[in-house]
Formats: sequence, structure tokens, C-alpha cells
Amino acid sequence: MGKPVDVIQSVRLDDENNTLILLDQTVLPNEKNFLHLKELKDIWGAIYHLKVRGAPAIGIAAAYGVYLGTKQSAAESYEELYLDFKKAKEYLASSRPTAVNLFWALDRMEARFQKEEGKAAAEIKQALKEEAEKIRAEDEKVCESIGQHALSILEPGWGILTHCNAGTIATAKYGTALAPIYLGQEKGYDFKVYADETRPLLQGARLTAWELEEAGVDVTLICDNMASIVMKEGKIQAVLVGCDRVAANGDAANKIGTSGVAILAKHYNIPFYVCAPLSTVDLACKTGDDIHIELRDSEEITSKWYEKPMAPDGVKTYNPAFDVTDNELITGIITENGIAYAPYTESLPKMFK
Ligand code: MRU
Repeated sequence: MGKPVDVIQSVRLDDENNTLILLDQTVLPNEKNFLHLKELKDIWGAIYHLKVRGAPAIGIAAAYGVYLGTKQSAAESYEELYLDFKKAKEYLASSRPTAVNLFWALDRMEARFQKEEGKAAAEIKQALKEEAEKIRAEDEKVCESIGQHALSILEPGWGILTHCNAGTIATAKYGTALAPIYLGQEKGYDFKVYADETRPLLQGARLTAWELEEAGVDVTLICDNMASIVMKEGKIQAVLVGCDRVAANGDAANKIGTSGVAILAKHYNIPFYVCAPLSTVDLACKTGDDIHIELRDSEEITSKWYEKPMAPDGVKTYNPAFDVTDNELITGIITENGIAYAPYTESLPKMFK
């Protein structure tokens, strides 16, 4: 038997002190530092700067954030409090564009607010807190279910390649793509995980390799451009990745580089699975072309991880944070309610029922 997954709670509410506590994912693995944030602008900044990151964790942080923002309001009437809520909601929604969980969580908080119409401000604030806590608690169960469904198609001893970080720190617990690894670890499955380093922000090296090592999982770090050789050498039996938004046709946006891994997997005949909670499935987006891809600063490519800049001063850069994997490259989309297979326009809506 392996070691059970440690609870590293990356997003937590300290309601008594009106504080959101976040594990700062930008300083890992060198420092395990928790940020204590009270101001909405700091919560916005933490999401924008990827101090909290990973689609489900962003959603949870935004839910707590909009609650804390509303809690600070002195408004007494429903209408006035609603205006303050809306301001906080719109502000947080502007922090990052691609992960639909951010908007999903904020919309869910708004629906809860509206349900409390006519109630006193204090009761509405209490309801918002409950809703945010529910979003967090549900995510833990959802991730565990994704892990169980994924585990049902994996075999002990397999080599599994993953990209970016879709682990416990990107969610309430377990992660999405890493959930079956943790559940398998508890059952002694002995997976051999290959973690792409994930240029330019190194989520694979800094976060996935770190959290799997902490849990005692057999993990090997590779550079992104080594995925092809490990596949060719027969070291990989399945690819599991997380996701930021799945369109109705099954096209899936995830960390930049994911679609390249899917193309390689197809070439080497290796199954490629996207692990996505239903909060990441956006049926309102018809295809991947409708997904807004975040563009980020050039310094992430040119100088961020280097002592000296590693590109000529002022060189043009293009830094999309995500790409879209075409649905025909995806073997299956693993949700908490089961595994959806092509045609996704038919199988994905069924997952919601
Ligand atoms: O820019 P990031 O680090 O937030 O991107 C994260 C990813 O692409 C993850 O794979 C995705 O959000 C799923 S996390 C369970």
C-alpha cells in the first residue's frame, strides 16, 4: 500500500479574520509560503499573478473573494448590497480569461445571492459564505470521482505523462489529472509519472514534480521537448492532462503545449485523456475557437527564470498561456460523472444529467 495523499490546502478561508489564505504557488518549490489576503485587489492580483492557479482553485478563490468583498460592504438593503456584490464579481472576473471555473464559481455565487432576495444583509453574507464553502467541499468530491473513473482505465505499473499541474494544489484536494495517481498510490498501483516541465512558467517542474515527490510518487521530470522520446521509448502508456475549458464539441483548452503532446500521443498510439470537472465544461462555447486564450507578458519567456535576459532586448514575443487540443486527438474526457467519448456533442450533455 502506498502513502495517502497529504492535504495541502492551497485555498482556505479564515472568516474570523476576513482573510483568504493562499499557498503562494509562485515561490514553490523553494518556499512553502501562505499569503493572508484581505483586500479584493490583492485577491485579484493573486489570481492574475498565478499565486493561486489551476482552474478549480481559481474558482474557489474567486468564490471566497467575492464573499469577502461583499462582507466588507456597509450596505444594508438588498439592492445596495447587490450593487457592491456585482462590483466585486466583475472585478474578480477580469483577473484571467480562459479558465471557465472562475466565471462558473462567480455566477454560482450570484445565483445564491439572488436566492436570498428580501433577506437582511447579514443573512445574505452568511449565505454567500456557505455557498463558497460548498464550492470548495464539492470540488474535493468531484476530484475524487474523476480519480476513480480515471483509475478504472489505468493499469498498475503504467507510465503516465502529464503536462502543467492539475494536482492537489490546483483544486480543493486530489487534483484532476493527478487524482488517479494519488488514488492509485493509496492502492499500491506504482505508476511511473513523467512530468513535462511546462515552459514558460514551469508548473510541471515547480509544482507537479514537487507535489508528487512529497506524496512519494515515482515522478521523473522532463523538458517539454522530451515528451516525444519517452513516448518512442515505450515509457508512456497513457497521457492525462487537466483542462481550463472544454467546448461543447470536446475541444479542450489547457496549458500551452498540451495540444502538441496530444499530437505526439496520437502518433505513438498512446491514449490521451483530458480530466475535467463539469465546472470546466462550457457548453455555451461551441468549439475551441470560441475560447478566449490568455496572452501573457513577454518577460515570462525572455528573462523570468534567468539571472540575465536570455533573449535580445525588445525582441518581439508571443506568449499564449493556453492552447486548444482538437477533440479528435482526445481519447476521452474524464468527468466526475463518467468518461465522455466522441461524439462529444452527444456525450458531454449526458454527463450533466
Ligand atoms: O496558468 P495555469 O497554471 O493556471 O494553468 C493551469 C492549467 O492549465 C491546468 O492544467 C488546468 O487549470 C487544470 S487544474 C486542475
